[in-house]
Amino acid sequence: MPDPIRFYYRGAVQEVRDAAPTRTILQHLREDLHCTGTKEGCAEGDCGACTVVTGSLEDGELVLKAVNSCIQFLPTLDGQALFTVEDLQHPDGSLHPVQQALVECHGSQCGFCTPGFAMSLWGMYLKQESHGLSGRPPSRCQIDEALSGNLCRCTGYCPIIDAARRMVELPPRAFDRAALAERLQGLQRAHGWHYEAQGARFHTPRTLDELVGLRAAHPAALLLAGSTDVGLWVTKQMRELGDIIYLGQVDALKTIAQADGMLSIGAGVTLNDAYAAVCRHYPAELGEMWQRFASLPIRNAGTLGGNVANGSPIGDSMPWLIALGSTLVLRGADGERELALEEFYLGYQQKDLRAGEFVQAVRIPLPRAGVRMRTYKLAKRFDQDISAVCAAFAITLDGAQVTSARIAFGGMAATPKRAAGAEAALVGQPWNETALRAAMAAMAQDYAPLSDMRASSSYRMQAAANLLRRFWLETRLDDPLPATAVNAFAAGTAGGRA
Ligand code: FAD
Ligand code: FES
Ligand code: FES
Repeated sequence: MPDPIRFYYRGAVQEVRDAAPTRTILQHLREDLHCTGTKEGCAEGDCGACTVVTGSLEDGELVLKAVNSCIQFLPTLDGQALFTVEDLQHPDGSLHPVQQALVECHGSQCGFCTPGFAMSLWGMYLKQESHGLSGRPPSRCQIDEALSGNLCRCTGYCPIIDAARRMVELPPRAFDRAALAERLQGLQRAHGWHYEAQGARFHTPRTLDELVGLRAAHPAALLLAGSTDVGLWVTKQMRELGDIIYLGQVDALKTIAQADGMLSIGAGVTLNDAYAAVCRHYPAELGEMWQRFASLPIRNAGTLGGNVANGSPIGDSMPWLIALGSTLVLRGADGERELALEEFYLGYQQKDLRAGEFVQAVRIPLPRAGVRMRTYKLAKRFDQDISAVCAAFAITLDGAQVTSARIAFGGMAATPKRAAGAEAALVGQPWNETALRAAMAAMAQDYAPLSDMRASSSYRMQAAANLLRRFWLETRLDDPLPATAVNAFAAGTAGGRA
């Protein structure tokens, strides 16, 4: 008999043997367990009606985070705890402060979105508690971050924001982290684990060597990381994924290290942890991008490796990674190789990834003297939106002269792509308006963007050139404009772990 999926939910260890590997947590909750508090709105990670909180052990430490249950596959829960809106009420029937505050502040009308909001607020409540800040009102920036993945169509947001402030004024409800960590210890597996049901296999390696072996043995199996792209292939495109190799339990892919002027981020590090690490070095340059990348639940699940490996032409990390001169460490049965990130993208959805290889880490140069850098995202909404154009610029100045220039865009070509002509127009020139104008003109030869639902080709061209101007205005040597990045976010108020 195959080894079941085991996770902790509502005071007991749940065992699941026969669910298809791509059955979502939300489907299991609603259709198998009949716990229907968690709702389905969009089934694509956008609305937050399905928000749940998961608990896992990472390096022995309990990590609690809000995620979208609609795009997470059930076997990824193995060894973890799951919390849904059904867990909030005390056994004596009294409401949790999160629920009580929503009631008192009139934070719910039709109620469809409310369980998702309650779980996002609970995630923030736990985070406040774990940081010793119980009873302290969260800042507006923290509230916006916690609720960035939740949409409400009838109440409006002010009463919900009021509830986020009110919940910490109510008598506190403590959460027993030690007891949960102990229970989770009993669910941890020492070695890789294989789940099989309904004709498909879900492999969960624990070490890099196991992963290399599995990748070589099953070259057609799909690699799954945070599931924030792949989940939608199932829920929206109804694709059959076949066998899956899950990267989420490979500890070696979750490391962040710094050496020789480079920050090395494992491919399995979540977007939130990756951006937190990078923003410690580039707070003004990347703080706003961190805040505007999707929503907190998506950043809690999705990985930097998945963003880079998926290689969408409108992905948000690649332009700034390329502008900074980042490299990829690729790993296969023959060992490691390293290549510049821009060389990884060969064409639309085509990458320089050989059979049996996977992305092991992204290596990012740390700040260097004379380098000025910015990245900008143009989208229709502030957060939880895909870029129409995403730009990143990095120039090195020796005195007033540009000695190197790296400009990369998303949304302007079939791949994330450098602006070779604009770069050439800048190198060797003084960083002044004459050089800027030459580079803006040269950019017309660098790109021939598409028109689509997000923006027209002419809008993209105009916006790209204007973003270069904005970069110049913010970094010019005489009288630069202050950067508009939301630095409070990068300065330490953000972070998904509770
Ligand atoms: P997965 O979905 O698990 O995998 C994505 C692809 O990468 C798959 O092909 C998988 O096989 C491959 N892969 C994953 N890891 C590796 C590896 N180590 N080696 C080789 N191949 C690998 N993206 C943005 O750029 N900006 C946004 O603002 C944004 N907003 C979003 C909002 C929503 C609501 C959703 C659902 C998605 C959004 N995305 C956004 C897309 C997505 O979140 C990112 O691309 C994310 O980084 C994908 O990472 P993942 O770990 O979830 O990858
Ligand atoms: Fe909308 Fe999951 S149902 S985010
Ligand atoms: Fe109706 Fe939010 S209360 S959608």
